[in-house]
Amino acid sequence: MKLLIKNATLVLKDGERKADLLIENGRISKIGSGLNCEGKVIDATGKHVLAGLIDMHVHLREPGFEGKEDIESGSKAAVAGGFTQICCMPNTNPVCDNAVVVSYIKNRAQQVGLLKVHPIGSITKGEEGAALSETGKMKEAGAVAISDDGKSVMDSNIMRLAMEYASGFGIKCLCHCEDINLVDGGVVNEGYNSTLTGLKGSLRAAEDIMIARDICLAESLGVPIHICHVSTYSGVEIIRSAKSRGVEVTAETCPHYFALTDDIITTFDTNTKVNPPVREERDRLAIIEGLKDGTLDCIVTDHAPHSAKDKAVEYNLAAFGMSGLETSFALSYTYLVKSGKIPLVKLSKLMSANPAQILDLDGGEIKEGAVADLTVVDLNKKWTVNGEKFLSKGKNTPFNGYEVYGSVEYTIVDGAVKYKNKGE
Ligand code: DOR
Ligand code: ZN
Ligand code: ZN
Repeated sequence: MKLLIKNATLVLKDGERKADLLIENGRISKIGSGLNCEGKVIDATGKHVLAGLIDMHVHLREPGFEGKEDIESGSKAAVAGGFTQICCMPNTNPVCDNAVVVSYIKNRAQQVGLLKVHPIGSITKGEEGAALSETGKMKEAGAVAISDDGKSVMDSNIMRLAMEYASGFGIKCLCHCEDINLVDGGVVNEGYNSTLTGLKGSLRAAEDIMIARDICLAESLGVPIHICHVSTYSGVEIIRSAKSRGVEVTAETCPHYFALTDDIITTFDTNTKVNPPVREERDRLAIIEGLKDGTLDCIVTDHAPHSAKDKAVEYNLAAFGMSGLETSFALSYTYLVKSGKIPLVKLSKLMSANPAQILDLDGGEIKEGAVADLTVVDLNKKWTVNGEKFLSKGKNTPFNGYEVYGSVEYTIVDGAVKYKNKGE
């Protein structure tokens, strides 16, 4: 099987290069000019080719919450968003806390056959924070990390044991950082806008305390950890300082934390409700700084699809989360690259090479011999976000009506076109 991409601007590790790219048997066989091929040809004049995007933090909801999303709809949304690999969180029903559920997800994703789906096993059984899940068996079945995402493991000794086990098995703990007692039912950031709206706030400290605790554990034990969805300026500072001491900590953030502030909660639109909450301008700017200087290693969506009925209720009762797969690239391109904050090469690293490295996945780079996972984008195309058009079952986006730049034109996985943008 051959595929030739002609006249593209390739986004490589160390810069952009205009070239043709030939794919044979699922791998990039040649990069050069004037290449020919008797197979399929894509003319990518005016378009950019990125190493296939990787999202290491997605909620696919299957098994158990298929009304919100399932592996098939989530896969369709992922390739439409330019993703060639995603990792899915274990807060399903049953929780992905054993090898059987890990295998089920892998098999189902393979049947759907659109992209690579890597399950994440839970840290504790049922995500209940007490007894550890069987890390080794889940890893053997294909889990790439462990996390109790959706919750923090509140018991520090359990978290210690989890980190030691994970490190022993050569995988990482992905830490959702939230001191649930301090959150105390808060639904938005605690500050001016929580006072204005009367919505119950949650302090930055509720997140920061757990970031600091997990870093303390990792540092004391000498094991690596990864911090999920950083939203606070102070969290960025804690991670920066840990990295400067040589602690093996990596961290992610999401488009909503660098594109939004909590001013949007004054609309009372429940699509703005997410955990951790979007915060203030000071935080938004610090998140961008963290991405620029390498304190934050990658951009994830925390794609959290919910059904309309989970959101069509008063703010306090609505589900936390945003449907993110289909807007992540455009929001990241628009708010970070088009705005002049970071170069495209850096964005490509944040959305592909770095997550691949953090989880030891095959991918993340365009070079001869590499796996042919590629995302072809048109950076000049301007479009307007409309959640109703998402392929995800989760239409819950706070970005409706936002004008963004950068459309995904093709998503190529193992050399096969898995998504082609057919336009309006
Ligand atoms: O907003 C969120 N939604 N944050 C989480 O931690 C969990 C997620 C979900 O599963 O809906
Ligand atoms: Zn989380
Ligand atoms: Zn999550």
